[in-house]
Amino acid sequence: MNHTILAIETSCDETAAAVYNTADGCLSNKLFSQIDLHTVFGGVVPEVASRSHMEKIGVIIQEALDAAGKTLDTIDAIAVTHKPGLPGSLLVGVCFAKGLALATNKPLYGIDHLEGHAFSAQIEHTIPLPYLCITASGGHTSLYIINGLGDYETLGTTLDDAAGEAFDKISKMLELGYPGGPVIEKLAREIECKDVYSYPRNNPELGYNFSFSGLKTAVLYNLVKQDAYDLKKKKLLNSSYTLKQKVASSLLVCIKDVFIQKLSYAFAKNPHIKSIAFVGGVACNTFIRKELKEWAEARGLSFFVPSPQYCTDNAGMIAHVADYKIRLNQVASGLDLDILR
Ligand code: KG4
Ligand code: ZN
Repeated sequence: MNHTILAIETSCDETAAAVYNTADGCLSNKLFSQIDLHTVFGGVVPEVASRSHMEKIGVIIQEALDAAGKTLDTIDAIAVTHKPGLPGSLLVGVCFAKGLALATNKPLYGIDHLEGHAFSAQIEHTIPLPYLCITASGGHTSLYIINGLGDYETLGTTLDDAAGEAFDKISKMLELGYPGGPVIEKLAREIECKDVYSYPRNNPELGYNFSFSGLKTAVLYNLVKQDAYDLKKKKLLNSSYTLKQKVASSLLVCIKDVFIQKLSYAFAKNPHIKSIAFVGGVACNTFIRKELKEWAEARGLSFFVPSPQYCTDNAGMIAHVADYKIRLNQVASGLDLDILR
């Protein structure tokens, strides 16, 4: 069964559309990133995000169709992220998708953004099953065991902040801008990813779950101890570049260690797993990729990461999930599809 899907993703600050074909994979994967609109505020502003989605969604969908050499008449189904995300942003994508489905009389599939990330490493790779997957993005950090397409179990998730959120919040604290991940990685590399401050690693009592809000507090109090941060005014007092490098580097190594802790724990409990996948925006981080790869290969496990375009939010991963849902004969969503936070 071969079909072509148009997918739309607007759950946060990327307006994305992709066209995917069962036999050929992703034919196009287009997006408009709103980063420049949010940088001035130091983080995503929901109202700004939904307005921008409304402006761009039509253009991006047309770009995706054109790049794939398709029209609305030559696609078989429409997929859209309907959860979780910013309600106003999700609504734009879902309403647009419903309109397209109604106008073209094509089936509509509501897709879970997290399922999109969880299976994104399979877009370009055949992964030996079962495998452990860490999703680390700005909004989510989760650990899954994946047994097959659409067949997965959530082992753990973050109890508070996501890993990407830790990068973003600490970057804001250091006045390094948004998003934090790339700039933290750059600074850390400049001092060879040294662990200067040994911030606390996750408490083993968390089991499969993650917690990163304590790490943010540890960074903050470490800065206060060095007279580098004013807690009352919430202001950085010492903007020394060297200090920023040390914080960035220690943070990066700490988050990498937490991931390895979780993988070690999960592998000990699930010794039958064959591979490891690392996905989500944080999986763009080449230092963490390299370290996780070494950890996996030292244990005879294969290691997979999607290429960067499928790590950060994208519609290709949403189309990929819709494709296997159709192949698994799952029922399409009705036009009463609603958003879920
Ligand atoms: O998956 P994504 O695009 O959006 C969400 O679903 O949240 O992930 C965005 C997150 C941001 O927190 C950003 O700081 C992080 O991914 N990120 C990185 C890197 N590039 C992006 N984190 C660490 N290192 C990077 N190179
Ligand atoms: Zn995401």
